[in-house]
Amino acid sequence: MLDKFLLKKSEPALPNSLLNRLKEARKKPMPNHVAIIMDGNGRWAKQRNLPRVAGHHEGMKTVHKITRFANELGVKVLTLYAFSTENWKRPKFEVDFLMKLPGEYLTTYLPELIEKNVKVEMIGDFEALPKHTQQAIENARKATEQNDGLVLNFALNYGSRLELVNVVKHISELAVAQQIAPEDINEAFVESCLMTSHLPELDLLIRTSGEVRLSNFMLWQLAYAELAFTNVYWPDYNEACLLEAIEDFQTRNRRFGSLG
Ligand code: FPP
Repeated sequence: MLDKFLLKKSEPALPNSLLNRLKEARKKPMPNHVAIIMDGNGRWAKQRNLPRVAGHHEGMKTVHKITRFANELGVKVLTLYAFSTENWKRPKFEVDFLMKLPGEYLTTYLPELIEKNVKVEMIGDFEALPKHTQQAIENARKATEQNDGLVLNFALNYGSRLELVNVVKHISELAVAQQIAPEDINEAFVESCLMTSHLPELDLLIRTSGEVRLSNFMLWQLAYAELAFTNVYWPDYNEACLLEAIEDFQTRNRRFGSLG
């Protein structure tokens, strides 16, 4: 209770101009599913002569800020790329730190997530995560499974190529067992085998830090998503940045290959 009080007091209120823009944005078509490649933590730290992990820790606070604002906006799913299947190549100290962040984030903010009707989920290879990370995710999943507001979906030990390889394996097994025939395999069937099968189609991908690449993230799901790149480093990303991306999304003419 005291924590919550302190948390709210220490957080500056959003300016009225931003709240007015938020109201306007809510009247227009909102992306159902927003995914973010949270990049630039290391460079943010380096700029300040801090260790890289300080950038990740600050990035965790941005996760809180952006989740809360996405919920206010009425986004249905927010998928955050928190750790890729390639990130294991980083120094052990950094990997260990990153693996502790879900635990710290969820311990600190779970009461607020529950109160705000947020449902915590995860995509990625769960089994290969350290036990303490698994426990933090599992605990949050259970505590929020009845919630039907924003889905906060962590991509953790996630890689799109691994996901697609697993889909191919699964479909081959079904075919070998003669449970499906080649003519049963279509786009909808492949979709149903993805880790995101239960989620709405991805509408908007945001990448921070000025890098313009996809880094093995949701390659199938991105087929018709709108893309937004910003130079802002993730720890500096804030409500105004997300609102700007949403407002820009709302000006896009999405034709999905047709003439509109
Ligand atoms: C990429 O930036 C970022 C990551 C690999 C980790 C992202 C993790 C967080 C933002 C915190 C996640 C929080 C929770 C609650 C799970 P980088 O380190 O590659 O940055 P750089 O390109 O500037 O070096």
